[in-house]
Amino acid sequence: MILVLGGAGYIGSHTVKRLLKRGDKVVVYDDLSQGHREAVLDAPLEEGDISDVDRLAGVMEQYKVEAVIHFAAHCYVGESVELPAKYYHNNVAGTLRVLEAMLRAGVDKIIFSSSAATFGIPPGNPITEEMPQEPINPYGRTKLIMEQMLHDFEVAHGIRYVALRYFNAAGSDQEGILGEWHDPETHLIPLAIYAALGKIEKFVINGGEFDTPDGTCVRDFIHVDDLAEAHALALDHLRDNGPSRSFNLGNGKGFTVAEVVDKIRAVSGRDFRSEIGPARPGDPAVLVADATRARKELGWRCVCPDLDVIVRTAWDWLEKHPEGY
Ligand code: UFG
Repeated sequence: MILVLGGAGYIGSHTVKRLLKRGDKVVVYDDLSQGHREAVLDAPLEEGDISDVDRLAGVMEQYKVEAVIHFAAHCYVGESVELPAKYYHNNVAGTLRVLEAMLRAGVDKIIFSSSAATFGIPPGNPITEEMPQEPINPYGRTKLIMEQMLHDFEVAHGIRYVALRYFNAAGSDQEGILGEWHDPETHLIPLAIYAALGKIEKFVINGGEFDTPDGTCVRDFIHVDDLAEAHALALDHLRDNGPSRSFNLGNGKGFTVAEVVDKIRAVSGRDFRSEIGPARPGDPAVLVADATRARKELGWRCVCPDLDVIVRTAWDWLEKHPEGY
């Protein structure tokens, strides 16, 4: 049985769907503060907080959990600057509780969501795993501490881990069952779709004077189904006694924010207002992944590198669910 913490959230729910489809048994643990009950398909849902070690260890024992996949973290860079305690509390202290529960229940494998944000402003692109990790905001620092904590627990207690460093997760389930619904929404693709749907009046591009082809930031968008598959492959890697490892996950291609906004106009067939505003503090100009290691060692393939598919799946779900789940 695989325990998915935060399995009612965006990437977690897509991963649960993928695991169930290939025949894994899954139990979801989520406090539903950001996740959605409706996003948990055919897996049991245990409502709970990751800081509750007794409950967490109890669930691990009850379901005879073999491995943990840990998505239960806060993920807003901007908010982490304003409310660092919230991030250190949930992401760092929460992960410590997860590891304590694993020790108590005798679970020795974990896959967890790390981030491109651990690299800060990279020395170059595409970004390999060997590049220095020097995060520039509290969110990135919490993710780096989580990686380091896992390493220490492996040395001391033999818990093996895979850290998956996502670049920009985007798109929705290609079967149209699951989607992306955050409250508040701060991410580029859903927000620009809100503008196309008339839910917001205009889309503001954060800065137009970066050193990029059109002056707007470049990001590497990875389809959430490709991310889900990476988790399934990481699980196989740990089951096959593979060593603890970190992997960068992106499609290796960057798109500018302005290109994405234009793609959303094209896919939706709707025009909407967009304008250039001030740059967002802490936004690196370019973040593009080198996912060679994931391809070589996990056998991972980016099946949906096409921005058109990424935007179209996001659009299809949000157009049908303009008020979310
Ligand atoms: N952007 C805008 N306007 C908006 C929202 C976003 O121009 O209204 C821009 C951002 O400034 C950035 C790009 O669109 O240049 C992508 O922004 P997102 O907020 O969608 O994503 P981020 O790149 O900021 O963050 C994502 C994840 C984080 C992760 C980070 C790693 O959401 O969890 O990638 O770099 F830490």
